[in-house]
Amino acid sequence: RGLVIAIDGPSGSGKSSASKGVARALGLRYLDTGAMYRALTWWFIAQKADTSDEAVIAARAAEPVIEVSADPDDPWTRVNGTDVSLDIRTVQVSSQVSAVARVPAVREHLIARQRAIIADAADGIVAEGRDIGTVVAPAAQLKVFLTADPSARARRRAAEISADTAETEAAQARRDRLDAAQSEKAADALLLDATDLTLEQVIDEIARLARE
Ligand code: CDP
Repeated sequence: RGLVIAIDGPSGSGKSSASKGVARALGLRYLDTGAMYRALTWWFIAQKADTSDEAVIAARAAEPVIEVSADPDDPWTRVNGTDVSLDIRTVQVSSQVSAVARVPAVREHLIARQRAIIADAADGIVAEGRDIGTVVAPAAQLKVFLTADPSARARRRAAEISADTAETEAAQARRDRLDAAQSEKAADALLLDATDLTLEQVIDEIARLARE
């Protein structure tokens, strides 16, 4: 079986850039599980569904066809064949995704898809999210829990989306709280604090651990 690297951690920890960089450095496939939760949330908003209505969300969780690219150099997301790579990054989606992601039927459905993608990647994969090391791929050979202090995370994320840092930090604190149940560090994950590290240093450190 191929090498599976699980990278979990909160928003703004630099998880996505680090995961793509590690996949490139080691010639592995890439899976952004957050993009799948975002894609489903985007679709519910487009359907004018109430994302706080658990019964509706559970009943329709498997309706849209969600596809993600496993290429770290071209990481697109599609819903029913339409490219939604940019649409899933809006503040509107970010503010509703936790409510959708906490519905058990949603997790069951998307986790099954994620496991199939990981099993398909014969040459190995870097999978990033919140629960990869604990639930999606507990047998991963390397698990990293990437974090950084809240203000560093908010600064990074605000710069990425050209938003106000204070507002971003408030939205981030709210999402941390709503995501807490599915964001536990795996007992065997290595904690990597990126507060004072550059992206390059984070990638090098994870690649080094993977080669050990
Ligand atoms: O913006 P950020 O990088 O934090 O988030 P993301 O990785 O795109 O994930 C968006 C949301 O999807 C998270 O806030 C969680 O609510 C949910 N998610 C999850 O529940 N489990 C995962 N494995 C990945 C994401």
